[in-house]
This record gives sequence, structure tokens and C-alpha cells, in this order.
Amino acid sequence: MARSRSSYFCQSCGNEWLTWSGRCAGCGEWNTLVEAPRAEPASGKGTRLAKRAAPGTPIPLRDVASPEVARLRTGIDELDRVLGGGLVPGSLVLLGGAPGIGKSTLTGMALGNLGTAGHRVLYVSGEESAAQVRLRAERLGEAALAVPALAETSLEAVLATLESERPDACVIDSVQTLNAEGMSGAPGSVGQVREAASAVMEVAKRLDCAVVLVGHVTKEGAVAGPRVLEHLVDCVLFFEGERERSFRTVRALKNRFGATSEVGVFEMRSGGLVEVVDPSARFAGEASATAGSVVLCSMEGTRPLLVEVQALVAPTEIVPPRRVANGIDRNRMAMVLAVLSRHGGPSLAGADVFVNVAGGVRVEEPGADLAVALALASAHRGEPLAGTDGRPLACFGEVGLTGELRAVGHAERRVAEALKFGLGPVLAPPASERVDGLAPAQTVRAALGDAFMPGRPRVQAA
Ligand code: TYD
Ligand code: MG
Repeated sequence: MARSRSSYFCQSCGNEWLTWSGRCAGCGEWNTLVEAPRAEPASGKGTRLAKRAAPGTPIPLRDVASPEVARLRTGIDELDRVLGGGLVPGSLVLLGGAPGIGKSTLTGMALGNLGTAGHRVLYVSGEESAAQVRLRAERLGEAALAVPALAETSLEAVLATLESERPDACVIDSVQTLNAEGMSGAPGSVGQVREAASAVMEVAKRLDCAVVLVGHVTKEGAVAGPRVLEHLVDCVLFFEGERERSFRTVRALKNRFGATSEVGVFEMRSGGLVEVVDPSARFAGEASATAGSVVLCSMEGTRPLLVEVQALVAPTEIVPPRRVANGIDRNRMAMVLAVLSRHGGPSLAGADVFVNVAGGVRVEEPGADLAVALALASAHRGEPLAGTDGRPLACFGEVGLTGELRAVGHAERRVAEALKFGLGPVLAPPASERVDGLAPAQTVRAALGDAFMPGRPRVQAA
């Protein structure tokens, strides 16, 4: 019997199977296997080992020449920082994000700036016609209008254009629209996307062209279909934010050329994305010393960020009561509620509880625990926390299950940021080194005592 020449590829994880089944045994997703032709080995017979190849010569890493990479600065500082200093020539960046978040806007602006700086650029649009791309560029200004654009979905045509144009930076918007002729399957399927991305990568590396692949995300938040792409590319950026709000953040999930902890903050305006250079002022500027409100000194990557955490506690009419968390982890809120009820705080078992990080920011670090605890206690009492001179109280710290406060990283930078805005002393777990302006509390109980004390919290002794 002739062997079947096709396999079944999981659209979620990219695993290849010989038979169809309802559930991918690789990732456990249902209904994701799609038939596609199998890649044939280059030579019909014989394995790779059978052919005698000359052995390579490994060399100690210290003797490997490390060329200085001249980065292509996009001129958008928030983006450059997340990239680790700019685009690396010959690298592949995957930019994921929900529809309408601003991926085309961001990449259009970046190419415009690169073009203005004298680099050769190319914008390939598979989703929109050149006229539609122009409409957006009109809103972005002269630099974006000067970007050469190509409305094309054929992979082969895009590769040929790359070869002839030899751009320094190219954006492909989006990778899911590229259609490789040799491959069956609809554009956007795993086979197609993988084929397109690896072909583009080969050309990009050879021509030393930095390529940004724009990718769609599924409603679960993963880059649609090709999780395989995340392994292939050098850098995975995620553009997120709520569409109703104007704030957007770019984070790196993976970066071979920089740290993954950096976050760039943008605001969508009528003339495109505007960098938010001082996010603390934006997010905590409106905080006031009212019941249920506290300022959290959080960290976004290597940058301290002040955000306002608000809580509301209201008598409930339903069982179980509502627990609504926006911008913080729901499980951590549940943990903080439990610790409060056992270690000196109010028991909120009979109340609806809402916690919200103002401005649509998401803080996912344990250092937010104390702010949640204090905001809840303050909302429950209906009493504002005692900041200095009528200013809101600033705090940070992780809450342990035994009611102790645990130190979190970068205490000094968090406190410094709060002091910059005239908020302080900052209520926090004791730091290992001396930090001016930090008011230490060992436990949640102690922190609650200090936070409601009229006047200011005690500052760490010199
Ligand atoms: P877009 O970049 O097309 O998003 P994506 O490529 O991620 O799908 O832009 C998204 C939204 O941004 C769009 O609804 C219109 C809005 N927008 C502005 O508010 N101001 C602007 O200057 C531009 C270009 C877009
Ligand atoms: Mg778009």
C-alpha cells in the first residue's frame, strides 16, 4: 500500500500526527488537527547519518567572534527599550495583539521613523489594500506616508520583493495572510504560517534585514495557530490593552537580544500612538486620600510604576458573594481576603468585593498584595488611609499566608518613585538595606495599624 503523503498538524501546538483524532495528544486541544502534506526528506532514500559528512570543529565560545550589532532604532523609545535597544538586523520579531489594538499603527510609525533616518524600509500588507494603508499613514504624518508599501499575500512574491528591494527593515502585516503556493491549507493554518515564517527568516538572515511579523491572537490570547512561530523567531512582542481604553502596553515574552521584563506604555490618540514617558504621573496622578484607595509602587520590568488600587466592599444579596478583580490576579485577591480575615483585618465573607487597578493597568506581581489588603480594609471601614499631608498612602509588599509581609525586589526604586511624586513614607516590608522614606511593617496586622494611624507612618530608624 502506498504511504499516505499527508499528516495531521495541530493548529495549536504544531505537532504532527499520522492519523486524525479529535484531540491533539501533544497539547490536549480539541478539534485542532488539520490535514496537510508532509514535508518529504530532501533525498528519497537513506537517512542523514548514512551520508558521510565532514565533521565540524567546535570552538570555545570565548574564541567566537562577536560582531557589534548596530541596532536599527525605531525612534519610538518605548518600543526600542522593549526590543533591547532597537531592531537587530537579520532578526525576526513577532508582534502579537488583538485586532484593533494598534499593531499596524505602531509598525507603520516605526518604519516611517526608520525611513526618515535613512534606512531602506518596506511595508507588506496582506490585510489591507494600499489605499487603506495610505489612509492610516495620512493620520500618522509625512514620515509614514513616505514608506514604500506592497499589498500582497503571495509568499513567493513577497520573498522576491525582499530580494529585489533589499530593505533594512520590513514589516509583514500579517503573517497569517501570507499564502505559500506549494502548501495546501488555508492561509493562517499552521502549515502555511510555518512555511511562510521560515522562508521569510531564511531570506531575512541572508539579506540582513530585520523583519517584523505581525500576528493575530486568538481569543485565548495566544498568537493564533502557530505556537511553533514563537520558537522560530528571535523576539516575541505582545501588544495589549483594552480597546475601550486608550492605554496600550508592549511587552516582550521572549527576546534573544534583550531583557523580557521591559514594558513600553503608549496611548492611542488621533495622530497615532503616543509614548507615555511618565506613566506614574498618568496612573497615580488622580489618586486621592479617600476610603478604599491606595497607591501601589509596582514595577513594570526595570521601571517603577505608581498605580492606584481601589476597592469597594458592599453588603451582598447573593451567595456566594461577588469577587471581582480588575488588573490583579483573582486568586491572589482571594488569598489576601483570607489572610485579612485571619490576621487582624476585617472578615468580608458576607460582602461583595471589588478591586480595581485604575487606568486599566494590569499588575501581576506579588508586590501588589499589601495594596489590595489596605484598599480592602479602608473600603470596609469607610475610612481613608493615612498618607502625609492629605496625600494618598503609598505601599507595596507581598503578603504571606501566615500574615507576614515579605520583601519584594527593587524596594529602593519603588520608594524613590513614590517620593518623586510627594508620596511617602511608603508602607512596606522591611528592606534588607536601608531605604530612606520606607516605613517598615513586619506583618499585615502592623501595616493595618500604621496605615490608619492619624499622622504619618513611622519611618525606618536611621
Ligand atoms: P490598527 O493599527 O489598524 O490596529 P491593528 O493593526 O492592531 O488591528 O489601529 C487600531 C485602532 O486605532 C483603529 O480602530 C483606529 C485607531 N487609531 C487612532 O485612534 N488614531 C490613529 O492615529 C490611528 C492610525 C488609529
Ligand atoms: Mg492591522
